[in-house]
Amino acid sequence: MKSNSYTIKKAIYSIGILLQILSINQQAQAQHKTIDQKVNAVLKQMTLVEKIGQLNQYNDDWQATGPVTLDSTKAEQVRNGMIGSLLNCVGTKRTRKWQEIAMQSRLKIPLLFGQDVVHGYKTTFPIPLAEACSWDLPAMESAARVAAVEASASGIHWTFAPMVDIARDPRWGRVMEGAGEDPYLGSKIAYARVKGFQGKNLGDTNAVMACAKHFAAYGAAIGGRDYNSVDMSDRLLWEVYLPPFKAALDAGAATFMNSFNDLNGIPATGNRYLQREILKGKWGFKGFVVSDWGSIGEMINHGNVKNEYEAALSAITAGSDMDMESRCYKNNLTQLLADNKINISLIDDAVKRILKKKFEMGLFEDPFKFCNAQREEAALNNTTHTANARAMAAKSIVLLKNENQLLPLSKNLKKIAFIGPLAKAVKQNKGFWDVEVPGVDSTFIVSQWQGLQNKVGINTQLLYAKGCDIEGDDKSGFDEAIAMANQAEVVILSIGERRDMSGEAKSRSNIGIPGVQEELLEALLATGKPVVVLINAGRPLVFNYTADHAPAILYTWWLGSEAGNAIADVLFGDYNPAAKLAMSFPRTVGQIPIYYSHFNTGRPATNDNDRFYNSSYNDLSIYPKYAFGYGLSYTSFEYSGLTLNKKKMKATETIQVSLTVSNTGQYDGEEIIQLYLHDKVGSLARPVKELKDFAKVFLKAGEKKTIQFFINQDKLSFYNQLLQRVAEPGEFELMIGASAEDIKLKDSFELIK
Ligand code: GLC
Repeated sequence: MKSNSYTIKKAIYSIGILLQILSINQQAQAQHKTIDQKVNAVLKQMTLVEKIGQLNQYNDDWQATGPVTLDSTKAEQVRNGMIGSLLNCVGTKRTRKWQEIAMQSRLKIPLLFGQDVVHGYKTTFPIPLAEACSWDLPAMESAARVAAVEASASGIHWTFAPMVDIARDPRWGRVMEGAGEDPYLGSKIAYARVKGFQGKNLGDTNAVMACAKHFAAYGAAIGGRDYNSVDMSDRLLWEVYLPPFKAALDAGAATFMNSFNDLNGIPATGNRYLQREILKGKWGFKGFVVSDWGSIGEMINHGNVKNEYEAALSAITAGSDMDMESRCYKNNLTQLLADNKINISLIDDAVKRILKKKFEMGLFEDPFKFCNAQREEAALNNTTHTANARAMAAKSIVLLKNENQLLPLSKNLKKIAFIGPLAKAVKQNKGFWDVEVPGVDSTFIVSQWQGLQNKVGINTQLLYAKGCDIEGDDKSGFDEAIAMANQAEVVILSIGERRDMSGEAKSRSNIGIPGVQEELLEALLATGKPVVVLINAGRPLVFNYTADHAPAILYTWWLGSEAGNAIADVLFGDYNPAAKLAMSFPRTVGQIPIYYSHFNTGRPATNDNDRFYNSSYNDLSIYPKYAFGYGLSYTSFEYSGLTLNKKKMKATETIQVSLTVSNTGQYDGEEIIQLYLHDKVGSLARPVKELKDFAKVFLKAGEKKTIQFFINQDKLSFYNQLLQRVAEPGEFELMIGASAEDIKLKDSFELIK
């Protein structure tokens, strides 16, 4: 029996704890209320001109990422509180200068500085599509973290990233910027990248606001032509194109950017359904939406509005808060108010959303908190960043072919011929959407040639020949290349696109390897020497000759600052490649769009022979050249022992899936195990398989591990005809694959009522 005094002490202690919790809660509420109160307090003082100023974003004069409007009055406009944000303004010096001008304005509302820090700031990481092939979520989060540390130290508050557009058409140049074709993988990556950019708390000096873009369905542009129309059912929009945006929102993305495309005839910038009904309504988004460059004014070209006056009306009512570079808001909102076309509450809502982020970033307290030159100097010379970039780059390299274990190369080779137009390239390795940091010489990029030199010992002689250019039909360099090959034991050939052949406004109708590069390969193969081909690109390319004739192929994408070192790490086995494709590779451009999660159709193409009874082409295999989720390793893996802890589950239950993966080769390595489900009968046709989980595991040579997955209702759900998210009772096929095509183990289970 406890004594009375004990009971009293316990009661006092509990009351103490309770009071503490209450006070923390009140403080938090106070803090929360404080920001809202502060926002309202500023809003109350603002003139209409100053309110509209916050909705106005201009490009600084350092670099342009869109069609420029020359305007020499920006400083005066900032001084008069008529600009809320600048983009493409980088460095503590330059941002401080602009912020000092903003502090001369009447209300001293700080500027927001935004920049496309898409895959690194000074330290350039692999292009996002390459990183996506690592399927390594912590690594991608860490890459975004490094980018944020460097960018925030250089005065930047806000990155226009991650780009989370699902894309299934490699003719579209911006596939390089996203995470490929799959909504499940794309959602996981979107979440990781937002977390990486925003860090622990917005307002920390090493955190930048993320911007989920481009909302929405920009990657489905017809014909893979950039800026082109998108036409799709709301069901497909919800099933495939929205999930990564919802994941970004769930990760706390501070901002969204709408997209250039029209969706079913309505430009995203003026699309109420997207921005008001879904984003700010159903999803409850509290941040703000920025237009894409000039996209408000471009609604005139779309033909949905007659003039800038109507464009401004359409965009502000649809929920587009900030106007990047079109000047439609600046020039028309006042008149729209005077004409009673809009209510001031629309403008106030947009202004409050923007001011709230400026408070959360701590910019009202200290407008110069991101302008610390010493921190910038330290952040831009942090060697852990380059180590991080090297590791991320190695994880992004996909081993497509390795006949007779040509790779990894021996470090005792006496002569290696390194040939090709990209062997000694430097800046090419940065890919598109790199940042040219003022005062930073980009030759700190490790070229592929330099990486090889860093790797091989003094007993290995490296021979070089360019062989040919990336484009053009000049073969005069072939002889020299052949001569080098004849002297060597192994040839490495680095070929591909130019880095500016993918990216924004870089759609290509022919996605082959340009010029005479594959003919150079043919000439080198004729020497009888073994040739390892490195393919550098920002998209899946078509390269059937190379694929069918080269003994070894590494898809090296554009790997950034540490490209050369990472490639050398893989070539010589210091890193065993584990990446797997995040996009299907077509055999020809005529096969596009091709993606693994297709419907079965009424006459399914089941193999390459049943020509009459198939939903493919009579002159082409039904399969992609390389499947989604495909990638080799220097070792081999075996999958066995698939078990489900039950064969029937109710919607409220889960099924535990387990299997064993063994490393049956001679190298330690990582394997990306993929779990696919097929809902065999639904109220709608369901894809033949959908990625619903994956695990990336490290196994030492000879080691085996048990892998577990859990199937819950969410993994069985889809959007039905009424756009309800439902899991319908019935049989599900479960597949464990090393890729979408290479299914190792199968089972099935039933969802019951
Ligand atoms: C560009 C891009 C967008 C980018 C913006 C600012 O047109 O579409 O992704 O963030 O303009 O550079």
